[in-house]
Amino acid sequence: MTLPPSAPPSTRAPLPLLGGISAAQFMRSYWQKKPLLIRQAIPGFKPLLSRAELLALAGQDGVESRLIEQLGDGQWQLTHGPLARRRLPSLKTPGWTTLVQGVDLHVQAAHELLQQFRFVPDARLDDLMISFATDQGGVGPHFDNYDVFLLQAQGQRRWRIGRQKNLSLQADVPLKILTHFEPEEEFLLEPGDMLYLPPKWAHDGIAEGECMTYSIGFRAPGQDDLARELFLHLSDPPDELDKVVVYKDPKQTATNTPAAIPPSLLDFARKALEVALAEPLALERALGEVLSDPKPGVWFEPAEDFALIENVRLNQRTRMLYDEQHIFINGESYLAAGRDAELMRQLADTRYLPLAAVQQLSDDALELLSSWVDAGWADSERA
Ligand code: SIN
Ligand code: CO
Repeated sequence: MTLPPSAPPSTRAPLPLLGGISAAQFMRSYWQKKPLLIRQAIPGFKPLLSRAELLALAGQDGVESRLIEQLGDGQWQLTHGPLARRRLPSLKTPGWTTLVQGVDLHVQAAHELLQQFRFVPDARLDDLMISFATDQGGVGPHFDNYDVFLLQAQGQRRWRIGRQKNLSLQADVPLKILTHFEPEEEFLLEPGDMLYLPPKWAHDGIAEGECMTYSIGFRAPGQDDLARELFLHLSDPPDELDKVVVYKDPKQTATNTPAAIPPSLLDFARKALEVALAEPLALERALGEVLSDPKPGVWFEPAEDFALIENVRLNQRTRMLYDEQHIFINGESYLAAGRDAELMRQLADTRYLPLAAVQQLSDDALELLSSWVDAGWADSERA
């Protein structure tokens, strides 16, 4: 079941999801700045998956999952999925947690829940992680490098949080566990309650009885990683082979230090990077491709039959972004202008394009859209 598209709420409208403040106020006062506890952010919230469905997902290939067990003597054990049901401790055993990452990629309702958080740019949104814990289960006191909304879905969880300077981690533990945890505040979350935490806030959530917590997680590129990925995308080969510029060294003298890198090769390398970056729109294109690239392991199922293009809805796994000149989808980039660009941006922002809008696309843009439907990146729905 998919919901009809809805117009994005005004960023100035008060949102129950944010405790009655607007998205604009939240971003100004809390985002990346300080925690916010929101009682009944989603009143009457019911888990989107049952315990059995979640644990079945944790057992599937291609789904990222982890099992964390507290072994009693202060020891932690981490097992990476897929986690067969028989591999999991009994539900009567206290103190274990299963975490399933990227649930929005597999469960439409989870993808729809994330849509409520699109007052933050898509380029920053990461995924929905769901944890299931038995009584006293948790992942230990730690900090994350990213913003997170922790939505209580079932049962109760006691969160203790603090903004400590000392973020040193225990050695020889398979998890990130703080050596000293200095909680400053404590909250017991009930279903529908939500806690926002900025990056680097120390936190520890302990289940009180069986418990499910949904983490709406964000991502922020690291400078080094982004540079590395951008360079990979900047190095697209030129279309014509005779344009390939190759290093030449007619003045190279005979050497008796053959392992030494010639300084002129370093100059050539520097120039190569400068030229790649100076190419008009090269950085813009590379950035959009990097940011819209699906995570490793994400796959699409091509359409089985030729589909007549009617209303078009992006597949839940598709990442679609745009900038002033481009449309980006799943790591590919297209120059777009005029009416086509406007309609493609509408598709990216609302993840849906009604037939009336599809009919206004140019032939080239329509062909492109059909190829996305064929690839399973978007679905055509009957008008
Ligand atoms: C959990 O759901 O148990 C852990 C979430 C977190 O601390 O980031
Ligand atoms: Co955390």
